[in-house]
Amino acid sequence: MKSRPHNDQESIGNSAIESGSNVHGESQVSACDELAMKEAGEKLALSFEGGEIIYLTGCLGAGKTTLTAGILRGLGHPGAVKSPTYTLVEPYDLERFQVYHFDLYRLGDPEELEYIGIREYTDHNAICILEWPERGLGFIPSPDLVIRIEMAAVGRSLIMQAKTPKGTRMVSR
Ligand SMILES: Nc1ncnc2c1ncn2[C@@H]1O[C@H](COP(=O)(O)OP(=O)(O)O)[C@@H](O)[C@H]1O
Ligand SMILES: [Mg+2]
Repeated sequence: MKSRPHNDQESIGNSAIESGSNVHGESQVSACDELAMKEAGEKLALSFEGGEIIYLTGCLGAGKTTLTAGILRGLGHPGAVKSPTYTLVEPYDLERFQVYHFDLYRLGDPEELEYIGIREYTDHNAICILEWPERGLGFIPSPDLVIRIEMAAVGRSLIMQAKTPKGTRMVSR
């Protein structure tokens, strides 16, 4: 079991995901196309220590799943990454880390997260990458890093906001 006690704050209330408070650092990266998006994910993967909680925000089609695929490839997942839109979560048991990729887009009521046993996923120092975290607020752990993906004139912009010292280490590498 790739676990380690973690004393980060347990859950986020209804505070805005990107509120000005609790910002430890911010950085911006451009990704001109899908390949660059995957490379940005692979680069980010180099800075994982274990147990990171990453929120990915941005509209449908922004590139959240593409970025996740890059992160997973960087963490050693060689295969395809399917969007867990209907299953809510897809597990990846990788060499160094346990990773859970969530997509909460279709979540009706955030209480459903209790039924799928969200704590089982988030309490064991696994890396959790969450698309549409705003739909699960109050039931998901607070993030180390929030990555907002915006449409740019060419490709996308990634605005990375660190929320914890761990997140800061990720954006400052
Ligand atoms: N940086 C980028 N520039 C241009 N297109 C991109 C970029 N990243 C991803 N895409 C494309 O955007 C589309 C939607 O990506 P996806 O990752 O499924 O979005 P999301 O998960 O945010 O809904 C895909 O066709 C993908 O190839
Ligand atoms: Mg997606």
